[in-house]
Amino acid sequence: MLQKIKDMLNEVENLEAHSAEEIEALRIKYLSKKGSIAALMNDFRTVPAEQKKEVGIKINELKTRAFDKINSLRAAFAQTDNDDSDIDITRTAYPTPLGTRHPLTIVKNEIVDIFSRLGFSLAEGPEVEDDWHVFGSMNFADDHPARDMQDTFFIEARPDIILRTHTSSVQSRVMEHTQPPIRVICPGRVYRNEAISARAHCFFHQVEGLYVDREVSFTDLKQVLLLFAREMFGENTQIRLRPSYFPFTEPSAEMDISCNICGGKGCSFCKHTGWVEILGCGMVDPAVLELNGIDPTIYKGYAFGMGVERITNLKYQVKDLRMFSENDMRFLNEFEAAN
Ligand code: PHE
Repeated sequence: MLQKIKDMLNEVENLEAHSAEEIEALRIKYLSKKGSIAALMNDFRTVPAEQKKEVGIKINELKTRAFDKINSLRAAFAQTDNDDSDIDITRTAYPTPLGTRHPLTIVKNEIVDIFSRLGFSLAEGPEVEDDWHVFGSMNFADDHPARDMQDTFFIEARPDIILRTHTSSVQSRVMEHTQPPIRVICPGRVYRNEAISARAHCFFHQVEGLYVDREVSFTDLKQVLLLFAREMFGENTQIRLRPSYFPFTEPSAEMDISCNICGGKGCSFCKHTGWVEILGCGMVDPAVLELNGIDPTIYKGYAFGMGVERITNLKYQVKDLRMFSENDMRFLNEFEAAN
C-alpha cells in the first residue's frame, strides 16, 4: 500500500497537460469520486491497524499534492493562454443584448412627434416646483382642493415647494419669459399622493399642450385634437367633447375617442358606452394669461393635457398601471417591435 502511494505521488509530481480539457481529464482521473485516490481511500479499510496512521498521513499528503499540482497546471495554462498571440482582439466581446425603449417613452415620443408636425415645440421644466408655477399661476384659488395634502406631495420643511401635480407648471414657465405666438408641448412626470393600485399610482406621465396667439378659437382646438386622435388611433377614430371644469380654462371640456378596442360598438374596456376619455382641454382662462404676463385683451389661447399611461393602455391594453414601473423584463421586451 505504501509503495502504491509513493508511486502515485511520483506520477502526480510529473503530470503535464497542454489544454484545459487535459487538465480536467487529470482531475477526473485522480481527484473525482471514482478517481484513483478515492480508490486508495477505499482500500484503507484493509490496512492493518498498526499501519493505519502512517498510511492515512501519506494518503492525505498525496491528495493535497494532487490538488496543488492540478491547480498549478491550471494557473500555468491560464497564463500561457493569456499570452497567446493568436487572440483576435477585434472580435466582439459578448453578444450584447440591446434594450428596448420603455412603452411610456415610445408613446410619449409618438405624441410629441405628432404635435411637432403640427408646429408645436418641446418645453420641459422641473419636477420639484414651487406652489406658484403649479397652482398660483394656473388660477387655483387658495383653498382649491387640489392643493390639499391628499393630492400634493410637499417637500419637508418647505410648504411652498412641491412635486408638480401636472405639467401645466411648464406652460406657466414658458409664458413668463415668452410673448406670443406660443405653441409648446410639455411632456413630463407628475406626482399625486394616491394609494398605488392597478388603476392609480403616485406618479404618472403627462403631455400638455399650449397655444397662445391673436386669433385662437375653440374650433382650432377641436381640429388639432381630432387630427391628433386620428394620427394616434387610426383614421376612423371619432372624437366627442363633453363640458367640464378646470381652474385654468374657460370653457373647459373632456375629450372622448370612439373606443379603439371595440371600434365603438361597446365592450368591457369602454364600459359598453363605445367611448373612452383621453384628455382634458379648453380655452386658456384670460385670468391665467394675465397672471403669466400676457395681455388677455390682445391674445387668446387653448390648452390640453393627457396622461401618457392612459394613451398607452388604449394602444397596448396594459391592464395594470404598476406594470409600467416594475421593470419586469418579460413585459418590457414585449415592446421591442414598437421601438
Ligand atoms: N392640467 C390638467 C390635469 O392635470 C390637464 C389639462 C391641461 C386640462 C390643460 C385642460 C387643459 O388634469
